[in-house]
Amino acid sequence: MRVLILGIDGYLGWALALRLVSKNHEVYGMDNLSTRKAVEEIGSDSAFPLPAPEERVNAVKKYLDADIKFYKGDITDKEKLKEVIKESKPDVIVDFAEQRSAPYSMKDLDHAIYTINNNLDGTLNLIYLVKEIDPSIHILKMGTMGEYGTPNFDIPESAFIEAIINGKKDKIFTPRWGGSIYHFSKIFDSYLLAYFNQLFGLTITDIMQGPVYGSRIPEIVNESLRTRFDFDEVWGTVVNRFCVEAVLGLPLTPYGKGGQTRGFISLEDSVEALRLLIEHPPKQGEYRVVNQFMEIHSVNEIAQIVKEAGEELGLHVEIKHVENPRVEAEEHYYNPERRILESLGFTPKRFMREEVKNIIEDLLPYKERLERFKDVIMPKTKWRK
Ligand SMILES: NC(=O)c1ccc[n+]([C@@H]2O[C@H](COP(=O)([O-])OP(=O)(O)OC[C@H]3O[C@@H](n4cnc5c(N)ncnc54)[C@H](O)[C@@H]3O)[C@@H](O)[C@H]2O)c1
Repeated sequence: MRVLILGIDGYLGWALALRLVSKNHEVYGMDNLSTRKAVEEIGSDSAFPLPAPEERVNAVKKYLDADIKFYKGDITDKEKLKEVIKESKPDVIVDFAEQRSAPYSMKDLDHAIYTINNNLDGTLNLIYLVKEIDPSIHILKMGTMGEYGTPNFDIPESAFIEAIINGKKDKIFTPRWGGSIYHFSKIFDSYLLAYFNQLFGLTITDIMQGPVYGSRIPEIVNESLRTRFDFDEVWGTVVNRFCVEAVLGLPLTPYGKGGQTRGFISLEDSVEALRLLIEHPPKQGEYRVVNQFMEIHSVNEIAQIVKEAGEELGLHVEIKHVENPRVEAEEHYYNPERRILESLGFTPKRFMREEVKNIIEDLLPYKERLERFKDVIMPKTKWRK
C-alpha cells in the first residue's frame, strides 16, 4: 500500500515508517520538525541523538534497503499538504502531526492557542483535502485514551452510545472529558472527524491510544535508525521518564498518590497494531473508533516495575512521591473496552515487565549524555499556577 505518514519524524511516526517499509509498503512522510524545536525550547533533547531527516532516510536505504520519501512541511499549510497528498497518491494517510504534550499545552495562553491551532487546523486541512483530492483515502488519525478521562463507568470502544436522558433514548457521541488543553484538542479532533465522516462520507479510523513506552523494534538494527525518546517533565511519558530517572540514579517520581490508572502499550505493539489497522481498513464511509492499549497499570505499579527492573540490572532505585503538578483524579475507577484489535487477530508481543529492562539497557550507554538534562526531569509546569 502507499502510506503517507504525517509526523514521520516523531517517536511513533519513525517507528511505524520502519515497520511499514520492512513489510514492503511504499512510505511517504511529512514533518515540520516542530517537536525537535519545542523539546529544545525547554532545554531538553531526545535520549538517543537524532540524525537529520535526510540522514535518517539514507540510513533506511543503507540498513533496510528501502526507500522513504520525506517532505519537510507543516500540515497547517494547506497548499503544501495538498502538494504532498497529490504527489504521494496515498491509499492511507496516518496523522500523528500534532503538538502532543499535555504540560506544553498548559504552560500559558500562547502554548494553549498554539496547541489548539496546530492540532485542529491540521485536522481540518486533512479532512478537506482528502475530500477534494480523493475521498476514498483512509484517514488513520491518532487520538488518545485520555480523551475519555477517567469516568466512573466502563469506557466503550465505539463512536456513539445509546443513552437514556430524562426518560428519552437517543444516540450520543461517547462521552469525553480532557485533562489538559492538549487532550481537549484531541477531543475536538474526534468531533470533527465524526462530523465530516457523516457529511462527506470519509473513511476514518480514530485511534484512542494509551501512553506508549519502549525503545526497541526489530527494524532498529543500527543506532542511526533509532526513533526519538523523550524523558523530560514536558515531553516524556511516564514509563520512559521513569526509566531515565532509574538510569540517572534519580528517584522515580509518581505525581501525588500515584493511583492514576491508564492503559499502556509498547512501541512494538503500537506499530504492529497500526500496521494491522492500515492493512484492514474500515468499510468505505465508516468512522471506526479503536481503543489501543494492552496493559492497565497505575503509576505506583509502574514505579514498582521500573524499580525491580533497574535493581535486576544492578541499579539502586528509589521511589519518591512528588506534589502533583496536574489536576487529575489520583485514585479512580478505570475499565475501558478493547475488542477491535483482537478481532483483527492482534496479539501483544511485548509486556512492560520485560520491556522496561530493554529500555534501561538501551539507555545505559547514553548515561553521560542524559546527565546533561537532569534539570528538566522534575515537574515544573503546573496546571494551576
Ligand atoms: N507517544 C505516546 O505515548 C502517545 C500516546 C497516545 C497518542 N499519541 C499521539 O500520537 C501522535 C504521535 O505521537 P509521538 O509520541 O510520536 O509524538 P512526536 O511529537 O514525537 O511526533 C509528532 C510529530 O509530528 C510533527 N508535527 C507536529 N505538528 C506538525 C505540523 N503542524 N505539521 C507537520 N508536522 C507536525 C512533529 O514535528 C513530530 O515529529 C501524536 O498525535 C500524539 O498525540 C502519542
